[in-house]
Amino acid sequence: MDKRIPIVAGNWKMNKTVGEAVELAGLLKQNLQDVKDREIVICPTYISIFAVKEVIKNSNVKLGAQNMYFEKSGAFTGEVSAFMLKNAGCDYVIIGHSERRQYFGETDEGINKKLHVANKEGLIPIVCIGETLTQREKNETFSVIEKQIKTGIAGLDAEQAKKLVVAYEPVWAIGTGKTATPQQAEEVHAFIRKLYSEIYGKDAAECVRILYGGSVKPNNISEIMKQPNIDGGLIGGASLKADDFIKLVRY
Ligand code: PGA
Repeated sequence: MDKRIPIVAGNWKMNKTVGEAVELAGLLKQNLQDVKDREIVICPTYISIFAVKEVIKNSNVKLGAQNMYFEKSGAFTGEVSAFMLKNAGCDYVIIGHSERRQYFGETDEGINKKLHVANKEGLIPIVCIGETLTQREKNETFSVIEKQIKTGIAGLDAEQAKKLVVAYEPVWAIGTGKTATPQQAEEVHAFIRKLYSEIYGKDAAECVRILYGGSVKPNNISEIMKQPNIDGGLIGGASLKADDFIKLVRY
């Protein structure tokens, strides 16, 4: 099997005007041209996607969206479909981010529905999973992760299972400055890969890329990336500044 190529993905969340997004994308494109050994993904807000695509086309910076709706088109006010995202130049889509679960009531069942539509439209899903602080303190981390995978990531075919990206993001580490220690993260990543292997087989488990997310910064990424089951980072806060994100990509 080819070695898994690490992904460094920036989740810009609800930040940046169109003008600011274009400026940041331009700086990243310019300063990361020579990077060949990792995949670089940026996920702006919906309204900036098209303009950012114009900036990064023909570069090694890829585009992702932060969410999607499972229907293709129609009377669903305020929503954007996977079909439209693909058409606008996205390769990736984040699904089931903990902020979507927490503030917008997303469930593992709904996430699974989106996952299948994203695959059908040719987008690579980045599915987010992770436990809250209370769940960790009650020793429920592994059972929470298991349910999120068994329900949220159910029903893939062999090819889809290989291409999928999973992001382990402990909710208590997101935007809090508290990173999981590399050992804490590795323990969960190894568990995810083992479970994935039980569901989708050894081949798929060797191909699936499992990113860590939660207060990843230029000064802690190298230690995190040394772990054998960590294949990249999903980065919020530190992806908003060109200098920081460039350092993160070049960890
Ligand atoms: P953070 O966010 O890097 O700001 O903690 C990570 C994420 O939510 O994807």
